[in-house]
Amino acid sequence: MRDVVSDVLSRILLPPILVLEGGLNRLKVARLRRNAAIHRSSRLYPEARICNFQKNPSRIRVGRGSHVRGELLVFANGGEVVIGDNCFVGEGSRIWSGERIVIGDNVLISHNVNIVDTNAHEINHIERAAGFHKLVRGGHPKYKTNVLTAPVAIGDYAWISFNACILRGVTIGRGAIVGGGSVVSDDVPDFAVVAGNPARIIRKLDVQ
Ligand SMILES: CC(C)(COP(=O)(O)OP(=O)(O)OC[C@H]1O[C@@H](n2cnc3c(N)ncnc32)[C@H](O)[C@@H]1OP(=O)(O)O)[C@@H](O)C(=O)NCCC(=O)NCCS
Repeated sequence: MRDVVSDVLSRILLPPILVLEGGLNRLKVARLRRNAAIHRSSRLYPEARICNFQKNPSRIRVGRGSHVRGELLVFANGGEVVIGDNCFVGEGSRIWSGERIVIGDNVLISHNVNIVDTNAHEINHIERAAGFHKLVRGGHPKYKTNVLTAPVAIGDYAWISFNACILRGVTIGRGAIVGGGSVVSDDVPDFAVVAGNPARIIRKLDVQ
């Protein structure tokens, strides 16, 4: 009897709950899209996050036909994220910019990947402690600090596997592959496969 009642209740209640959930997700996505310049043919999923501390939508741009499930962030005192056409950014992946991160076309970024072009904190211990103190009291600084930044570029057709980290100053070549869990601190040539920590070339792809 109890099973029948719960079955009937879920049949009655579930459809409107799903409709409500769909509506809330659409509202959330519409709100996120206002903080970035995302081509109308590109899709932002409800689990995506847009953190635009510059409050200038043109600092986060996504081209045509791309799919974003991860987080795109620009700091208040600098940073720009540019994603090309037909790209994918997986769930739990974070692209955080304090300078400039440019991702080409047809780039696949798996889940839980971190691409960061800034150290985010100072190297000097006294400056780092003071910087953190100011951050928690007043939010992200709007002025330049001694935090080291260097642009990151990811070439067309690259594939970054899950849990990889791409550090500041790195350029990943066209068609390159970064193995799962790799930490990339040096440039990766076109059509190279790199893996490990620190990432090293494990083979070169034979491209016609
Ligand atoms: C990058 C990848 C595709 C490379 O595969 P591959 O070319 O078939 O490489 P192999 O399995 O032949 O391994 C070659 C060597 O590199 C090492 N290696 C491969 N991937 C590695 C990794 N992620 N980290 C560390 N070492 C790795 C292997 O141990 C092997 O070392 P050895 O020659 O000393 O035995 C694969 O390692 C990978 O990361 N797969 C994850 C796919 C993924 O992200 N899927 C999620 C959906 S997008």
